[in-house]
Amino acid sequence: MERNIKKLVILGSTGSVGTQTLEIVRAFPDRFEVVGLCNGYNAPLFKQQLDEFKPKYFNTLGEVESGYAGAKFAPAEEIAALPEVDMVVAATVGCAGMPPAFAALQAGKDLAFANKEVIVMAGKLLIEAAREGGGAILPADSEPSAIWQCLEGEESEPSRLIITASGGAFRDRAWDSLGDVTPDQALKHPTWTMGPKITIDSATLMNKAFEVIESRWMFDIPFDRIDVTIHRQSIVHSMVEFADGTLKAQLGPTSMLQVIQHALMYPDRQSNSELPKLDAVRMGSLTFEEMNPTLYPCFELALEYGKKGGTYPAVLAGADEAAVQLFVDGHIKFTEMPDIVANTLSAHDSIVEPSIADTIEAARWATEITLAHHNQSTILS
Ligand SMILES: NC(=O)c1ccc[n+]([C@@H]2O[C@H](COP(=O)([O-])OP(=O)(O)OC[C@H]3O[C@@H](n4cnc5c(N)ncnc54)[C@H](OP(=O)(O)O)[C@@H]3O)[C@@H](O)[C@H]2O)c1
Repeated sequence: MERNIKKLVILGSTGSVGTQTLEIVRAFPDRFEVVGLCNGYNAPLFKQQLDEFKPKYFNTLGEVESGYAGAKFAPAEEIAALPEVDMVVAATVGCAGMPPAFAALQAGKDLAFANKEVIVMAGKLLIEAAREGGGAILPADSEPSAIWQCLEGEESEPSRLIITASGGAFRDRAWDSLGDVTPDQALKHPTWTMGPKITIDSATLMNKAFEVIESRWMFDIPFDRIDVTIHRQSIVHSMVEFADGTLKAQLGPTSMLQVIQHALMYPDRQSNSELPKLDAVRMGSLTFEEMNPTLYPCFELALEYGKKGGTYPAVLAGADEAAVQLFVDGHIKFTEMPDIVANTLSAHDSIVEPSIADTIEAARWATEITLAHHNQSTILS
């Protein structure tokens, strides 16, 4: 079957998801063309990517050098909405990814979606933007992708979504014992290799709460029908239960490559020798344990405010981003993160029905106030 080449914009091209997206593009040169690349500050890698993929447009926060393979600098929002673009890959980390993700959806583009902070900040608005623009949101994150794949072809509503969690770097330790853990220890995920923020969020289980909030919006299901179970092997990426008791699970290796390829090529599945495979015989035992949310203060806090809605989820995402940065930079202890985020949330006056601009402003305020609170308390102590 003859197919049109899919024209892509990749936001966050130099990150973990971004570079793996480019691996898929590299494996299928006749299926994809890169029209735009956007990154943060990693100039050497970005330059290599521009030289290799020769996009027409780019955006970077780093230094703009001349001779970027003839590409034209433009705002990320403009690149994401260009008429010739078919799909935008949202792989920026954090709240900064919101404006271009919305611009893409408002322009009717399909969005391969990894940047979960954006759906945490503004789930309802994101889904509305997709509906109004006519583009699809295709999960490029393993848990929502698993749920999506389990729901595929089903006409009945699921009775429950069961999101699996590895438990993160400190899954066998009590929260109270984690006061002295270092950023290096927290950055060692037991099963996945990912960017630093999501790895820290996995260690606190903030990431798991984000996935619950993400699933609530992406699959239009109430919070009380979403469960989390600890699954140490990270092979079952999530499950869906139906009214007749049938449980469907999606299994895969601990690699994002399949997940990203599926989002980019949906509904097509193509062989790719670069993709790791699971061998059922060598998989070993799969275990599932009840998760006790009271052991994970970030998880409980995030769900409490995720359920409140308004601008609280945006403040949650903004404050978490600042708290993770403070921890990684060595300014606060691992166990201080939930308190710092909670202080910012309790200082916020939520807007009940926020606009996109209100949401962006709430997250910006939260990041700033969280960093400022910390600086002030350091100066006072
Ligand atoms: N990694 C995974 O396996 C995985 C799995 C599921 C979901 N996700 C989600 O996917 C997103 C990306 O995660 P990641 O692990 O790929 O993160 P990452 O490795 O830290 O990469 C983040 C990307 O965003 C860019 N960036 C950072 N700040 C920016 C800003 N202010 N403006 C524009 N670009 C900026 C970075 O550019 P520079 O590096 O050039 O500064 C980089 O390209 C996150 O929301 C994460 O939760 C990741």
